[in-house]
Amino acid sequence: MPIRRLPEQLINRIAAGEVVERPASALKELVENAIDAGARHIAISLGGGGIGRIEVIDDGSGMNPEDLALALERHATSKLPGDAIEEVSTLGFRGEALPSIASVARLTLESRVRGADGWSRIIENGKLEGEGPAALPPGTRVLVEQLFARVPARRKFLRSERSEYAACLDIVKRLAMARPDIGFTLDHDGRRTLAVQAGQERPERVAALTDRGLAENSVAIDYARGPAQLGGVAGLPTFNRGVADHQYLFVNGRPVRDRLLIGAVRAAYQDLLARDRHPLVALFIDLPGDEVDVNVHPAKTEVRFKDPANVRGLIVGGLRHALDAAGHRSAQQPSAAALGAWKQEPVFSQFAPPRSPGFGGSGGGQASVWDRHADFAPSPAARAEVAEAAPPPVQSFPLGVARGQVAATYIVAEAEDGLVIVDQHAAHERLVLERMRAALSDGGVARQALLIPEVVELDEPACDRIEARIAELGEMGVEIERFGPNAILVRATPALLGQSDVKGLIRDIGDELAAFDQALSLKEKLDHVAATMACHGSVRAGRILSVAEMNALLREMEVTPHSGQCNHGRPTWVKLGHGDIEKLFGRK
Ligand SMILES: Nc1ncnc2c1ncn2[C@@H]1O[C@H](COP(=O)(O)OP(=O)(O)OP(=O)(O)O)[C@@H](O)[C@H]1O
Ligand SMILES: [Mg+2]
Repeated sequence: MPIRRLPEQLINRIAAGEVVERPASALKELVENAIDAGARHIAISLGGGGIGRIEVIDDGSGMNPEDLALALERHATSKLPGDAIEEVSTLGFRGEALPSIASVARLTLESRVRGADGWSRIIENGKLEGEGPAALPPGTRVLVEQLFARVPARRKFLRSERSEYAACLDIVKRLAMARPDIGFTLDHDGRRTLAVQAGQERPERVAALTDRGLAENSVAIDYARGPAQLGGVAGLPTFNRGVADHQYLFVNGRPVRDRLLIGAVRAAYQDLLARDRHPLVALFIDLPGDEVDVNVHPAKTEVRFKDPANVRGLIVGGLRHALDAAGHRSAQQPSAAALGAWKQEPVFSQFAPPRSPGFGGSGGGQASVWDRHADFAPSPAARAEVAEAAPPPVQSFPLGVARGQVAATYIVAEAEDGLVIVDQHAAHERLVLERMRAALSDGGVARQALLIPEVVELDEPACDRIEARIAELGEMGVEIERFGPNAILVRATPALLGQSDVKGLIRDIGDELAAFDQALSLKEKLDHVAATMACHGSVRAGRILSVAEMNALLREMEVTPHSGQCNHGRPTWVKLGHGDIEKLFGRK
């Protein structure tokens, strides 16, 4: 077959195959154009998930009639005054989006520059259908209808209106997050589904688009590494989610999806969260144009970094730094469901429940709602020890002064502004991990020799995996030797774990190494192992603590980084504010 040059229309349609995959990708291009045009406000309206109709109206620069015609030509752009893509500061740069969309839909483009009349052009699947004067305020209005009506192969791959709409909403959120200076509205099938005002601060905008609770449950990030800069907000580990969709990443103001970046976020949170929980983050990376290639993906949603290791270090370092500064903070509001469950049960009021000094006479019998996992008999287990000396003033301690212990599992403390309940096992586990980490970075964890070395039987691959890490485990205070094909001999365990279950510990280390061997760097793996060890060494739920021990635990939590959550991302303590208590008793 002879080689031929393809007609323009066909070229555009082929390009559209890459650029316009679904309504959300067309919408992304239109909103990006509006942002590039310097709009202060962008109004988006969708019909039928964007399959039926996409309309974007902006109050940006507008185009004159000649530019309007050029805008619909391929490779025509106003955004590359020089020829250097590295220097591009706009979201667009290829001059491809509008002709691509116009080749697979009916596109109406109306535009007006300030001080002149408006003009409009209608293109139907690549063919000019008409043009003429248009009445509109300064700015641009783009309407896309019948997307893929003539491209059945594409149309077939569209999902339900609902999921196409969800993809559109996600795009709008990401772009709106990138530009808190611009106002956005989104309507779907006549209903307003998103509205944010121009001129917000970044954290305020992120919270408005994700979760209002983020404001109290996040830390701000401001960090630099080499030429790269990291800003944004990071949710506290206790403010986690079941899916990773709430991670918003931006490179030089461009929303991106990038496995490297997602992996780095994961690494930064890894010992603060259970494996199936995900943090909420909005991270903005800024770096010089020659450090990043933005021209590697048809929808411009991926970038390539010149120095990926530095970017990874930037994210892990920036997040850790910010989360370290969060100290013992944790998601503070007990959930509405838990609060609702804390109601008076008449049956208890007939008995005189044991009174603890801190409760001011209100019975301790209903506290069982705080137990998330196990059933336990409520009042008989509650106990308190009367302090012999006058208790220290509560206001000097954020987590308050211990007043008693409930179910040998929870410490009840009185703080200046409310009642604090601490999960003693979760909290202690966290403290042990942080101690272990500090010791590790200080040159190694102290060991305690076992009186009689213990032989732990495991399958051969597990023994191999553990044997391969003998040196590092030694630094962590675990002294072991291979003992035949199917066993490990344990000579010493970390002193700070105290009396621990050696067999369980070694088995868990074997499992951890197996689960993470492929995926994580050695450092990250060791963090997991440290977390596993911490779990073995901590105060079990069910141990009776003295008031002095309880207070010691509280004081240590206050000065230990990350002590607001256990190693699985659950809170280690919750507070019931005085206001909440008053509500429970109907005083408010
Ligand atoms: N909303 C708008 N307001 C003002 N000018 C616009 C608008 N949309 C498009 N334009 C003009 O039309 C040109 C072509 O737009 P198009 O989206 O096709 O390409 P681009 O934005 O330059 O690059 P890319 O293909 O990477 O998006 C732009 O360079 C810009 O000059
Ligand atoms: Mg564009």
